[in-house]
Amino acid sequence: MEKSLDVFISYEHESKSIADNIVSVLEQHKVRCWYAPRDVIGDYATSIVEAIERCRIFVIVLNERSSNSPHCLNEVEQAFKANINQEAITIIPFKVDNKDLSKAMDYYVKRQHWIDACSRTLDVAIFDLKEKIIKILGIAEKKEVVRERIDNKYDSASDFEKTRLNNQQKVLKKFDIDIYNRLIEGKKNVSVLDVGSGDGSLIVDRFGHCEAVDTIIGIETNVENVIFANDNYSNEKINFFALDLTSSDFEIKLKKIMNAHNIENFDIIHCSMIFLHIRNNYHLLKKLRKFLSNEGCIYIKDIDDGLNFAYPDINHDFERVYEICRNNVISGYRYSGREIATNLILSGFKNIEILKNGYNTINMSFEDKQSFFDIYFSFIKDDLRIQCERYPDDEYYRKEYAWLCDIYEDLERKFMNHDFVFNLGLMSFIGFKN
Ligand SMILES: C[S@@+](CC[C@H](N)C(=O)[O-])C[C@H]1O[C@@H](n2cnc3c(N)ncnc32)[C@H](O)[C@@H]1O
Repeated sequence: MEKSLDVFISYEHESKSIADNIVSVLEQHKVRCWYAPRDVIGDYATSIVEAIERCRIFVIVLNERSSNSPHCLNEVEQAFKANINQEAITIIPFKVDNKDLSKAMDYYVKRQHWIDACSRTLDVAIFDLKEKIIKILGIAEKKEVVRERIDNKYDSASDFEKTRLNNQQKVLKKFDIDIYNRLIEGKKNVSVLDVGSGDGSLIVDRFGHCEAVDTIIGIETNVENVIFANDNYSNEKINFFALDLTSSDFEIKLKKIMNAHNIENFDIIHCSMIFLHIRNNYHLLKKLRKFLSNEGCIYIKDIDDGLNFAYPDINHDFERVYEICRNNVISGYRYSGREIATNLILSGFKNIEILKNGYNTINMSFEDKQSFFDIYFSFIKDDLRIQCERYPDDEYYRKEYAWLCDIYEDLERKFMNHDFVFNLGLMSFIGFKN
């Protein structure tokens, strides 16, 4: 059978988020993955057997449950047999707990070289897995320049990104300050959890000096950001912690932080521009809801480029820019906004409102309009530059980067024209626990 796939991922359904993370990282590195249910076509069993035959590497997310799961055992047996038949499938066990394996699973995997994901963070283990896989597939050299980024994380600690986010906050303050005021109106002793807090400046700017706010906990996966935030803003009421929202022990770790700060629950969970970088919003929302007080609410700011428009856009240049953004994985998922209200409903939130549904240049001052242009368009250019460095052979990124550099000034002039209107699909939502 032709090896038209690179990696088959076998997992027990409770480990789906781990499998999602693995696939997300591998696919960012152009590794062709197959995993159920996403890739099942037609009959389930036939589809699985064929996929295993077509893959070069078989990854099993190994824990007590998968080790006893008849499905996973069938799959690993299939890969094992293929290997005996010299069809050369490399089996890589990716061990995510410390429990003993079932005898059957032990039989299939004991001679294989394991990746240990128990004694270190999931991100690091997935990084190792990815390195191993691209080596086996012989694409290591081509991908040498790839900078690591997991799930949809990006280098938010770079000076460029910090400056951009800072400008963004200033411009967006006009968009959302009334909402922040509404969130704390008439309240006292408010505790806030800021999810994906970046360098901390946004939450500190909006809530740092509010008397009504007693506690702010920021959680953020990028350690450099956390250090920066603590160095610059931490005090008896504000603290930042390194924590990955997508990690399997997220809830346990957050609970520990809360215990250490005598926080029973949060009155406000604040999520600004984070959901577009997260794959499983629904699961995350369900988890976050548990940490809210009974009267508590979640505030979400996110993006939906489907709501963007630029007028006039005679040559469709602005449209082409959104298209680039959509095609570029590091810009996040650009239709994230439209999913949020539904995911809030599904995860048990009540009294959900879409507070804002787009932000536009009408009546903006010259300075704000300039900043608006910079924050949206400069990041697309920079993301393209990064992708060109990562994938020097990629014709698409090269072509679009050259085009954008070429036309950038022209775009800016059009944007700054007094009769030009740009609407950005920036959305914001509120949902209450009860
Ligand atoms: C676009 S920035 C937004 C920062 C800030 N909330 C704001 O609106 O200015 C997204 C932030 O989420 C962080 N992030 C992404 N994935 C994360 C994850 N799985 N767990 C925690 N933080 C994450 C990134 O490192 C980054 O700092």
